Amino acid sequence: MIEGYLPDVPYMATFIREIAPSWLDRVAVGNGVLPPRASSQQSFRYCELGCGLGVTPNILAATCPSGVFVGIDVLDYHIDYAKKTSAASGITNTLFKAGTFEETLDEQFEAFDYIVAHGVYSWIDQANCNHLLNFMERFLKPGGLCYISYNTLPGWNRWAPVQKLLLSIIDSCEDDPITCFKTAVETIREMKILGARYLNDNVMVDEFLNRADRLQIGYLVHEYLIPAWNPAYSIDVSSECKKRGLTFVGNAEQIKQRDDFIFKKNQIQLLDSSSYPSLRELNKDIILNTSFRRDVFVKSAKNLNTEEIFNMKSEQVFALNPASKDQDFMMRTAAGTLRFDNQAAKEIVAKLLCGPIKLSDIASDCMDESVTTGDVVNTADALWAVDIIRPVDQQVECPSLDKLNAALKLGI
Ligand SMILES: C[S@@+](CC[C@H](N)C(=O)[O-])C[C@H]1O[C@@H](n2cnc3c(N)ncnc32)[C@H](O)[C@@H]1O
Repeated sequence: MIEGYLPDVPYMATFIREIAPSWLDRVAVGNGVLPPRASSQQSFRYCELGCGLGVTPNILAATCPSGVFVGIDVLDYHIDYAKKTSAASGITNTLFKAGTFEETLDEQFEAFDYIVAHGVYSWIDQANCNHLLNFMERFLKPGGLCYISYNTLPGWNRWAPVQKLLLSIIDSCEDDPITCFKTAVETIREMKILGARYLNDNVMVDEFLNRADRLQIGYLVHEYLIPAWNPAYSIDVSSECKKRGLTFVGNAEQIKQRDDFIFKKNQIQLLDSSSYPSLRELNKDIILNTSFRRDVFVKSAKNLNTEEIFNMKSEQVFALNPASKDQDFMMRTAAGTLRFDNQAAKEIVAKLLCGPIKLSDIASDCMDESVTTGDVVNTADALWAVDIIRPVDQQVECPSLDKLNAALKLGI
């Protein structure tokens, strides 16, 4: 049993697109930081802390043969599943290790270009948060990127009393965690019917009950039943990282790549008046009532100038998201309605129908000569923000992909 954590309930199989090296690199470039890889063919080392069933590192390993992917998790069941998935798919560039963050701190790992922890930081106690950050400090290469996602305040503030209620009901329940969770959900439903004002006045409770009906129990138990559950202010996470030489780069959520997509002009003026970067981020969280962040940090940043940012953005390969067809090229955000139904958007989508391609190649091959590389780069930001396109690596042969798809479909 890990202090504050919950044993024995497997997590669900998920792929987290925001922790792909190509995505993290693009976040770094957009925020003026040189990414660890000069090209996607370059060899690199990647580590996921709290990798669960190892689905993301296995998919990344199958699709990025130039990387070595290490996954670490405390639950033996998770690590066995991850190893079996690699073996069944013929993937050879993974290494999965069972152990706590504290134990793995003593390993002699070669340094990593990327260290990521998704869905972990808010669900472990302070001591384990420190071990996780110490691991990043110790094993990240200079110029390397790390990613930490976490439940954020003020967004989760309204949830704390409900979490207390959930855990208190479960504390007095003698069944297994899954049965106890179901009992707690039913109790909350009943309390709402009986007129419990805190529950009835709280939109997060409705969201929770809706999730409890829809989502897999493995997710629900890991999300809601961890005794150490503890949302954080971004300013505090940044400060813990800074103590370890890890500087804030940006939020990896795609809609958060451009302030002008989500904030009104006067809000941007207010943000710009923040006296230091992590205060700027806290101001953003207060304006947006942020409940989740995916923060990227760098060790010993090499900063890019405006021209370098533009050149690197235009050399980025994008792929069409096959799930998002028939888009109307607009987005509604807190800043208002943004429309990008322009020739550049049509050219990008038309070219990407044939497969992933660099933005500079799209620009040089445009049917409409009035479309500039600047138009293509700018419009790609918007298409990415609404998930029509995604930054990817240059396409390569992926011999293990079919077997991996079959293994994931069947479940090991
Ligand atoms: C919510 S799951 C997230 C899994 C995966 N990152 C994903 O997003 O699909 C959190 C994972 O962290 C692992 N974990 C929790 N505390 C840990 C610790 N102290 N050391 C190592 N792993 C830990 C759990 O076993 C679990 O698999």
